[in-house]
Amino acid sequence: MLQSINPKFVVLGMLKVVILGTGNLSKHLHDAFTKAKSVDVVQVVGRNQDALQQFSEESAVTDNFNDIAEADVYIIAVKDDVIGEVSRFVASKKGVVAHTSGAMAMNHVQSNRKAVFYPLQTFTKGKTVDFTSIPICIEATDAESFKTLEKLAKSISGNVHHIDSEQRKKLHLAAVFVNNFTNYLYGVGEEICSTEGLSFDLLKPLIKETAEKIMAIPPKKAQTGPARRNDRQTMQSHLELLNNEEHITLYKILSRAIKQAHEEEL
Ligand SMILES: NC(=O)c1ccc[n+]([C@@H]2O[C@H](COP(=O)([O-])OP(=O)(O)OC[C@H]3O[C@@H](n4cnc5c(N)ncnc54)[C@H](OP(=O)(O)O)[C@@H]3O)[C@@H](O)[C@H]2O)c1
Repeated sequence: MLQSINPKFVVLGMLKVVILGTGNLSKHLHDAFTKAKSVDVVQVVGRNQDALQQFSEESAVTDNFNDIAEADVYIIAVKDDVIGEVSRFVASKKGVVAHTSGAMAMNHVQSNRKAVFYPLQTFTKGKTVDFTSIPICIEATDAESFKTLEKLAKSISGNVHHIDSEQRKKLHLAAVFVNNFTNYLYGVGEEICSTEGLSFDLLKPLIKETAEKIMAIPPKKAQTGPARRNDRQTMQSHLELLNNEEHITLYKILSRAIKQAHEEEL
């Protein structure tokens, strides 16, 4: 009798992966690995049974951290503060143990085969991303672990880089400025619009162009606005319109920084 065979089981050199954690990044990585022909996510491990359900169609799941499967790579996708604690459950396994954080040094992982697998992108459950162009920054204690991790990274992205812990911390810091802070400022803009009954959609073409422009010209050259021109009256009237102390502080700090960066051109 013919049985249906999961095509993944016939691929030689298939990488077995266990993902620990069930949050934003875990879900995105699971989706990407599941689509890759050379990767088999053999298990997802997490403490939240409800969250585990979303993985259970394609992979085995468990909330028992003492019952973790054998794998070539263990991906630790839990909050930064508990990377060390969670990696202890796989410290004696043969596979490579990689955390996924931009900010934490590789040494936080408990294992002889420590590694980092940091995808430089913002991931939120429910918002799909195209993994093929996402930079994946990898690092490992030894050449063999690095090779395994590189194979895993290349199975989902064509943009894989060897970045050490010190460089990665700086990269993460830069990412906080260009993504986290910018996104917070989008929120401030949305709040200001909503208090006037204006749609945030009105700002979306501007947000898009701001991001697209710096693909073609450097951020410093792309800078516009009252602070860049030192239009004092406009800045003063903006400050008078604001009634949130945090927003006033932010406006002043950012305007001062922009002014200083362009002083010689004024
Ligand atoms: N999201 C991104 O944009 C992004 C991008 C690049 C790298 N990363 C890195 O990916 C990692 C995960 O981030 P995330 O955004 O996916 O976070 P998240 O959505 O908040 O998920 C965090 C996960 O950690 C688990 N967790 C927390 N404390 C735990 C503990 N004591 N024991 C076991 N599990 C615990 C949570 O389980 P519960 O649900 O039970 O709390 C949850 O599954 C972080 O290291 C982060 O730096 C994230």
